[in-house]
Amino acid sequence: MTQQLLVYVPPHPLIKHWLAVARDAATPSVLFRSAITELGRWLTYEAARDWLPTLETTVESPLAPCPATVIDPLVPVAVVPILRAGLGLLEGAQTLLPLAKIYHLGLVRNEETLEVSCYLNKLPEKFDPETRVLITDPMLATGASIMTAMAELTQRGVDPALTRIVCVVAAPPALRQLSSAYPGLTVYSATIDEIVNEKGYIVPGLGDAGDRIFGTI
Ligand code: URA
Repeated sequence: MTQQLLVYVPPHPLIKHWLAVARDAATPSVLFRSAITELGRWLTYEAARDWLPTLETTVESPLAPCPATVIDPLVPVAVVPILRAGLGLLEGAQTLLPLAKIYHLGLVRNEETLEVSCYLNKLPEKFDPETRVLITDPMLATGASIMTAMAELTQRGVDPALTRIVCVVAAPPALRQLSSAYPGLTVYSATIDEIVNEKGYIVPGLGDAGDRIFGTI
């Protein structure tokens, strides 16, 4: 069976609601931040469904032993927020994955050339090949940042098939590149918008996610 990029847009009312709040240009920064946090929470919940490793065990209830399914503590779980804007999705993800290691990756794009450069890299030299990696980056637009992040991760041993990307808006240029380079990868997005303008912004999108999260507009 040939692998292909999987893109899920979960049809969940909470995801739709917080996306609407985030898209609204009249939403102030403090509420925008909450909306992105909630989207991080619910999209991570969806992404964890078939991704978090579990094991079968037995627990003693107050009345009798019973079979139980628990999260496997021996399989490493990592969250990689792409700075700046990926930090907005981190809190919601972290509440669901409290034991995950957080590895920050700071990428900035030149607003003229749209080229991406890395100014902070807290990734370990080598990942355990079993590591479940969740990348948070709200906007997959041209694909430059997410492709840089995926290259940094895979050259350190991360398996794309064990990787989930959580984003808020994904656009075709980014999805096309991910699809041809990493066919086993899975993306969870609140929505897909078709247009990326000449400045690299998604239309209608939600504007500059980093500026709106951190109030630097
Ligand atoms: N980054 C953003 O913050 N917004 C876009 O629309 C595209 C990239």
